[in-house]
Amino acid sequence: MDHESFTDICLHQLKMSGVHDGESVVVLTQGDERLDYANAFMAAGRRLRANVYHVRLPPPPIENGWAVGKSQLAEMPEVVETLKSADMLIDCIFLLFSSEQMAIQAAGTRVLTVVEPPELLARMLPNKQLREKVELAGELLASAKHLRITSPHGTDVSYVIDSYPTLTEYACTDEPGRWDHWPSGFVFTGGNDDGVDGQIVVAPGDILLPQNMYVREPVVYTIENGWITDIRGGLEADLISAYMASFDDQRGLGMSHVGWGMNPDAHWHNLAPGLFPGGMGMEPRSFLGNVMFSTGPNNELGGQNDTACHLDIPMRNCSLFLDDEAIVLEGKIVPKTLQFS
Ligand code: FE2
Repeated sequence: MDHESFTDICLHQLKMSGVHDGESVVVLTQGDERLDYANAFMAAGRRLRANVYHVRLPPPPIENGWAVGKSQLAEMPEVVETLKSADMLIDCIFLLFSSEQMAIQAAGTRVLTVVEPPELLARMLPNKQLREKVELAGELLASAKHLRITSPHGTDVSYVIDSYPTLTEYACTDEPGRWDHWPSGFVFTGGNDDGVDGQIVVAPGDILLPQNMYVREPVVYTIENGWITDIRGGLEADLISAYMASFDDQRGLGMSHVGWGMNPDAHWHNLAPGLFPGGMGMEPRSFLGNVMFSTGPNNELGGQNDTACHLDIPMRNCSLFLDDEAIVLEGKIVPKTLQFS
């Protein structure tokens, strides 16, 4: 995408995120990654008369896999202090799940993750209706005590959801200390630590993230008291098990966040090209009417599990019930208030 077009979509983003005259905005990058993002945000911020800065870290150490929650900032407390003093941080690195991001948010800085390809950012711009619908969905989820997912493939799993907060993602953020991710459009919470039981059957066509793969053979998860006790299936089940084993951390078997997708601009058939960080699957995560469960860390929600072993698994054609009320039925959103015009 050329600089001018990129600047235009970043300007839209900064307006949606309430950036105004005199605010301080920091764009964070590392190595040679996403320097064009920094340039576009700097140009857009200047048009709004904000004070925009670019903080560029050295190249990251080479990691094996997606080690969530690990960032170079752990060794750079002086940079963390700088970021805490900003009104808004544009994170082009991916700090999510790190204690450094949590400290930055706690200081009142709003944080927006921006790592997906520019073409996807342009196609999934934040808008008022998306925010309104996601916030309504978040209210429904936050008021429920029990969540159940079923599917024609044999999923039947129950989450007790009365201990963790609900988070919303609608791709912009204008409230102090709030984090969001562009693009996005979904809601989630976490099951109680010992409150998830049943079976999840990941069906052909469902998606494994961060592998960015469509499943071809069913994967059957057995879950007892909040922990995965068995994973069975074919090739994809083997890959999941091997991936999890590579972290050598049993806490990867914990159940993490759960929720559903709310963005009508997201397509299922169109995984962003390349593996993370070239495209990390925010589009299928946001797909309207998906049901997504995840495994591993729950510290993002305030839990104790901060393992780096994390999978997100969006699924199609599932049904999701809150306190026995249907919210998603076979992949379609049921409450009229959540449907898009
Ligand atoms: Fe996740």
